Amino acid sequence: MKILVLHGPNLNLLGRREPAVYGSTTLDEINASLEHLAAELGCTVAFMQSNSEGALIDAIQECAGRYDGIVINPAAYTHTSVAIRDALAAVGLPFVEVHLSNIHRREEFRQRSLTAALAVGQICGFGRDSYLLGLRALFSYGKNS
Ligand code: DQA
Repeated sequence: MKILVLHGPNLNLLGRREPAVYGSTTLDEINASLEHLAAELGCTVAFMQSNSEGALIDAIQECAGRYDGIVINPAAYTHTSVAIRDALAAVGLPFVEVHLSNIHRREEFRQRSLTAALAVGQICGFGRDSYLLGLRALFSYGKNS
């Protein structure tokens, strides 16, 4: 099973970006933990981060035929991007939406996700573990379907 992990805007700054909200773990450390878990599970992971909506859409479109599923943190685009939602719908691969913070107990504008309704599920509020739980969940969803 091949899974793409997609990180949206500003997640390249993890570690120094609002640590009280997002923690002190860097994106490289999150990716390393995911690599480690993927090896344990017996799947392959690839990573991509972009601050640009178009680049994220291109990456989602290119998943067709190349990956079996997507773990995505669309970051701020979660709340605004019809285009990312449409790309996920078009590709039709199972995906899990993850967030470091619990978006449901933050500002009202963060409580709405345009992508979650298409996801297998959403995991939020567990920092780095949101990604690890997301990968585990997608892997076992893929194995059982
Ligand atoms: C985030 C939550 C979003 O509201 C925010 O814009 C982010 C990160 C999270 O992982 O908690 O950039 O997706």
